[in-house]
Amino acid sequence: MTRSLTVRAAAKINLHLGVGAPREDGFHPLDTVYQAVSLYDDLTAYAADDWSLTTAVAAHLGEVELPAAGDNIVDRVAELLCARRCDDGCRPTARVEVSKTIPVAGGMAGGSADAAAALVALDRLWDLRTPDSEMLALAAELGSDVPFSLIGGTARGVGRGELVTPTDDFGAWSWVVVPDDRGLSTPAVFRHFDALFPDASPEPAPAQPVLTALASGDPVALAAALHNDLEAAAVDLRPDLGDLLARGESEGALRGLVSGSGPTCVFLCESAEAARDVAASLASTRPVVLTAHGPVAGAHVVDTSPFP
Ligand code: C5P
Repeated sequence: MTRSLTVRAAAKINLHLGVGAPREDGFHPLDTVYQAVSLYDDLTAYAADDWSLTTAVAAHLGEVELPAAGDNIVDRVAELLCARRCDDGCRPTARVEVSKTIPVAGGMAGGSADAAAALVALDRLWDLRTPDSEMLALAAELGSDVPFSLIGGTARGVGRGELVTPTDDFGAWSWVVVPDDRGLSTPAVFRHFDALFPDASPEPAPAQPVLTALASGDPVALAAALHNDLEAAAVDLRPDLGDLLARGESEGALRGLVSGSGPTCVFLCESAEAARDVAASLASTRPVVLTAHGPVAGAHVVDTSPFP
C-alpha cells in the first residue's frame, strides 16, 4: 500500500533584521524577528525503493533557476537525516515532490521552508521519531533560517539567526508581497552590506522596538518599528526596489520593506481590505502582486495516505 504524506511550510518576513559585522566564521551576527506568512511550499514524500526529487514552481513565479539534481537542500536533508538517525549503511529512499509558491531566491526563506518540510516529512515517513531538540539542531546545520521554518509563528532569532525563541505577537498582520523574477543571492547581499558598512558594529541593532510593537497589536506601531539592515545593500544593488517601496507607500501601505536579503518587497497595511486595495493598485504595473497574512504555523502535516 502506498504510504505518503504532505507537509506544508510557510514563507517568512524579517520584521526586524539587525546585522552586525561578520564573525570569524564569515557569518553575520543577527538580532532578527521572523514572522511566518501565508505563502506556502508543499512537499509530498512517498515511500519508494530509491531516491528521487522533483520540483514544480507555480506558474505565476515565472521561469526560475532551481538547484541542479542532487544539489537541492531537500537532498541534503535526506542525507543528513539518514546519516544521523538511521542505522549504519542505510541510504535515503523516497519519492519527493515539492510544489513551490514561495518566491525563489526572494529573501522569503523558500529553500529553508523546503528543508523544514523535508525534515518533518522524512522523519515521519522513515518513522525516526527524532526529538524536537534534535530536529532544531539538524535544521540549524542546514541553514540559518531553517529552525524558524520548523517552528513558524513569530520568533526572535539570534546567533546567525538559527537560535530561535517564540515571541508574543498579538496582531493579525496584513501584507502585500511583490516578488521579482530576478532573484538576489543572499551571500552577495551580505557581502555588499560589508562593502557599504565596513565599520559596522559587531553588535546587531536590537529587536526591542519591533517586539514592543508586536505586543501592542497595532499596525501603525509595527510599521514605525520595521527595520532591515540589509535593505540599503539590496536597494543599492537593485535601485528599482527603492522606487517600488516608495510607490507602495504612496498607494496607501503603512510601510514598505525589503524582505530579508530581497528582492521581494513587502508592504504592511492597516487591514486585509487595505492590503487588497494596495495590491490592486500595484498590479497595474507589476506582473505578480500577492497578499498574505501572518503569523501562520511552521512546517506541519496537511495530508497522509494510508499509514499503518
Ligand atoms: O545559513 P544559510 O546557508 O542560509 O546562509 C546563506 C549565506 O548567507 C551564508 O553562506 C552567508 O554568506 C550568508 N549569511 C551570513 N550571515 C548570516 C546568515 C547568512 O553572512 N547570519
